Amino acid sequence: MTLDFLVTDSLHIYPVMSNPLPRPMIIDTDGGVDDALAIVMALNSDHIDLKAITVLAGNIDVHQAAKNVLRVINIVGLEAIPLVAKGCTKPLVNPPFNAAGIHGSDGLGELHQFKNADGSPRYPALTTEPSTEDAIEVILKTAEEYGNDLTIVALGPLTNIAMALEKDRTTLQKVGRIVIMGGAVKVPGNISAAAEFNFFVDPHAAQMVMESGIPLTLVGLDVAMKAPLVRSDVEAYAQKNPSQVSQFIVDCTGIYMAFYRDNEGFHGCYLHDPLAVGVAIDSSLVSTESVYMVVETDGKFTAGMSLADLRDRRDEVNSPPNVDACLEVDTERFLKLFYDLIQP
Ligand code: BDR
Ligand code: CA
Repeated sequence: MTLDFLVTDSLHIYPVMSNPLPRPMIIDTDGGVDDALAIVMALNSDHIDLKAITVLAGNIDVHQAAKNVLRVINIVGLEAIPLVAKGCTKPLVNPPFNAAGIHGSDGLGELHQFKNADGSPRYPALTTEPSTEDAIEVILKTAEEYGNDLTIVALGPLTNIAMALEKDRTTLQKVGRIVIMGGAVKVPGNISAAAEFNFFVDPHAAQMVMESGIPLTLVGLDVAMKAPLVRSDVEAYAQKNPSQVSQFIVDCTGIYMAFYRDNEGFHGCYLHDPLAVGVAIDSSLVSTESVYMVVETDGKFTAGMSLADLRDRRDEVNSPPNVDACLEVDTERFLKLFYDLIQP
């Protein structure tokens, strides 16, 4: 948002935001449940000019992930739809590792189980196909075209971004910022005691991106786990606001939320990827600290751990800050944005 001017009254001074032009953006995603909710938000936001959705293996294989992205686009039902391009089928070095146990075997909560009143499938097979263009080419082409104006929002493992860096570092370095859902700075991991899922799946890619020199905002578990979506709230919302989108959100989150109910003691889920889109829209939702961060690639117990050097006597010359790590979030304001952007 651009800050236009300050308005004052007797008690407050507060910024007034202009109606900004939509910002060119790419979403890079591994096609899971929270990715789907994030894409709904991005498609509905006036602040985002979504140039492409690039897809990779993570929560689910890349082909299913691309189908899931096309499903979301179909449900939101916009006329102008972004390009969808497939990229990496596996991490740079490690073997593939998915989260089908949490997101469902289709990555979207087993959508085939839902039927209409007449018994027909609520989510019939789609006829749309992803582009034949390669995701890495799409990322580089868009970086070249929009340069500093382009934000990439990375919602999965960082393999596509690392491959783009490897192929043409100079061009990728033109982008203004990468907002990354990944890592954990002051809190434990989720897939292991040390690591957050996206960094765990491809720690080598995450470390390459840390060293890229590109401005990075890290939306890690420190803030993502302060942004819960409660099952009963989303069901009440869908009842009050019946639409294809609200029905889809209730359906696709069922299995995902049951995982949290059974394993984390609350019936709902964390809005990891939606929060990254929220931060890309409005950075004032979070407070950040600039830190020097590395990602452990080999540790027997710590692979995928994002390690921020938080020492006072850190060597600023050899370890300059490379990441703006989000540490606090205005949950209420973020949830308002989330509900605003899932409106049809
Ligand atoms: C991340 O892991 C994935 O399963 C989610 O989609 C999110 O991007 C949270 O750790
Ligand atoms: Ca994801």
